[in-house]
Amino acid sequence: MDPKVSRADRDLRKMLSEKRIKSVEDRSVGSEIFDQQTLKTLYKMANSGYLNILNGAISTGKEANVLKGIHEDGHFLAVKIYRINTSDFKKMQYYIQGDPRFKVRTTHKRQLVYAWVNKEYRNLKRSLEAGIVVPKPIISQNNVLIMEFIGDDDGNPAPILRNKAPENPEKAFESVVTSMKKLYHEAKLVHGDLSGFNILNNNEEMVIIDMSQSVVVDHPISRELLERDIDNIILDFKKFGVSASHEEVKQKILG
Ligand SMILES: Nc1ncnc2c1ncn2[C@@H]1O[C@H](COP(=O)(O)OP(=O)(O)OP(=O)(O)O)[C@@H](O)[C@H]1O
Ligand SMILES: [Mg+2]
Repeated sequence: MDPKVSRADRDLRKMLSEKRIKSVEDRSVGSEIFDQQTLKTLYKMANSGYLNILNGAISTGKEANVLKGIHEDGHFLAVKIYRINTSDFKKMQYYIQGDPRFKVRTTHKRQLVYAWVNKEYRNLKRSLEAGIVVPKPIISQNNVLIMEFIGDDDGNPAPILRNKAPENPEKAFESVVTSMKKLYHEAKLVHGDLSGFNILNNNEEMVIIDMSQSVVVDHPISRELLERDIDNIILDFKKFGVSASHEEVKQKILG
């Protein structure tokens, strides 16, 4: 056996026996996400001090699982793990192809998912640097992204905006539109899947999440995605009693 492989194998077994990744046996997490390769990635991250314990699911989505992690310092982390098998390969390819930051010309599914996760990391980083409230990305490796946990000190994740109406809807709406504007002009990105599902209401602060599909403004589909994001946001805030027209919001964002 290749010495590198056998070392990784030994390390992995050690980690499992120490139950540092305890969710392997945790039914609530669903062991299907932990293929051998993913376990190795998690192990590497744990070994490099990014993560100490994985303990339970925050969300199981179409393509990714978000788990709660604990750092050795005791603070919580959000660990987003993309499942290779259920990834929307066609969508990923389509979005990545027009992005000048990525030269991925691959049809290899795993490589494409890895690029997709790295894209989310970079989009979050760019947004954070532009002063937008997003979870701070910590590291992305293969199909795993570790980021700041958004929630309370007891480890309860913040609810999505869809499930928790803001106390001051007008103010929350303004804050989301301001984020979209900063995203466009400063980070030079369009979110691409913005709605009440991808905004967390963290104690009345609007936190934008889920940026894997976000595209640079000079991507051929950026304008189309921006129009859609505007429509989704208007529709979601309408339920909270805020009325705004598409043109008015667009004007605010594009200036
Ligand atoms: N940093 C975070 N802190 C706390 N909770 C988070 C964080 N990131 C994500 N979540 C929770 O996990 C859920 C899913 O995350 P996200 O929207 O990024 O992926 P997703 O929609 O499941 O992706 P897909 O639909 O492509 O599978 C969110 O709705 C939110 O409840
Ligand atoms: Mg989402």
